[in-house]
Amino acid sequence: MPASYVIMPRMTSNRDLLSRSLSAVWHPCTQMKRHETLPLVPIARGEGIWLYDFDGKRYLDTVSSWWVNLFGHCNPRINAALVDQLGKLEHVMLAGFTHEPVVQLSERLCGLAPAGLGHCFYGSDGASATEIALKMSAHYWRNSSQPEKTQFISLQNSYHGETLGALSVTDVALFRDAYGALIKQNATVPSPDWREAEAGESAEAFALRCADALEAHLQQHHARLAAFIVEPLIQGAAGMAMYHPIYLKRARELCSQYGVHLIADEIAVGMGRTGTMFACEQAGITPDFLLISKGITGGYLPLSIVMTTDDIYQAFYADETARGFLHSHSYTGNPLACRAALATLDIFEQDDVLAANRVKADFFNRIAQPLRDHRKVKNFRHTGMVWAFEVDTPHVDFAQRCFSLGLQHELLLRPMGNTLYFMPPYIISEEEMQMLVAHTLAIIDALS
Ligand SMILES: Cc1ncc(COP(=O)(O)O)c(C=O)c1O
Repeated sequence: MPASYVIMPRMTSNRDLLSRSLSAVWHPCTQMKRHETLPLVPIARGEGIWLYDFDGKRYLDTVSSWWVNLFGHCNPRINAALVDQLGKLEHVMLAGFTHEPVVQLSERLCGLAPAGLGHCFYGSDGASATEIALKMSAHYWRNSSQPEKTQFISLQNSYHGETLGALSVTDVALFRDAYGALIKQNATVPSPDWREAEAGESAEAFALRCADALEAHLQQHHARLAAFIVEPLIQGAAGMAMYHPIYLKRARELCSQYGVHLIADEIAVGMGRTGTMFACEQAGITPDFLLISKGITGGYLPLSIVMTTDDIYQAFYADETARGFLHSHSYTGNPLACRAALATLDIFEQDDVLAANRVKADFFNRIAQPLRDHRKVKNFRHTGMVWAFEVDTPHVDFAQRCFSLGLQHELLLRPMGNTLYFMPPYIISEEEMQMLVAHTLAIIDALS
């Protein structure tokens, strides 16, 4: 074997990997200087819900590795599908070519998504799906002789990704402000997050009140609006803000009434996370665009999909090239990622995952009662396989302390401010749920 093919075995330790990472890797969503005092967590391997470092120390992945993992790390069924696919086709461009995994995946998603979404356009990460939907919406109006419809609206505290187009509909100052001069200005409308309801006002009444504000905005601005983009049922980055499905139902009616597209960003909440395959089902609506990513590959590979209607597809179908949707990414519809997605859908079917999750969620709600009742816990809330609450704490750096203390208790916790949440892989066992509650109680006691 030529010398250049020989990979020298290298003994890696926690300490070795940390220092090499800090010198060579610029980590995402991080002020790198913080790692002078807050060490990175080295991960050697994953199995099921657990991540292990090089000394065998383990961490329960309560956040599904940024909300992507559904069936555990190194899942044997997804692994086997990928190994099989590796022997057939690793990649081919999707412009001018097609392949079995992307066709099968599109067919199966059309059968699973709310009725009427018959066309799948492929991207890679979640933010690329947001970009695609925004561009497709505005281009639709241009192709429909309404080129002035180029503005978008999103909810207050919305999050739709970090690329420039996605930031234009993301309402998180920390992520936006540095790039303000580069970002298109779009308006926001009040969020139906029920934590903001008046005392005595139900989540439903509050959602309807917020829908009235949406209507007022649409009434005034619809002529220039292309689309309203929304995270259905849970605004993840807003601190797992949850809201009543009636808001989505009203948003659908109002968007149809005022000729504005509705984009449902189910990047975080799709794939069973809210208790139904897609959150929109709980409001009985079909959006004009449905965005899917994260859990679709079981947390294995980047893949995103924008599903849309015949009406939108037909507006691009013409003799002129420029009326077509000419957007692309090199890895669009990658066969390996599609195959991981097909294996993920197989698990949903074969294991009746949605029903199994209902049983798990009931169990967790029962054993989480001491958390719900804890005097320092506020707004305990739950939807599907997501739980969240605020901790009344004197520590301004609660998130960092909680993360560090979590690691000492074998938990990967990643609070947002003083909001602590659990979004575990669906394979979490009863024993692991019990451990999660017991260790979280100990952490809250220590930090409140
Ligand atoms: C609702 C929502 N939209 C879009 C994104 C962006 O996805 P990605 O990080 O894969 O670009 C996220 C990521 O957390 C998200 O939660």
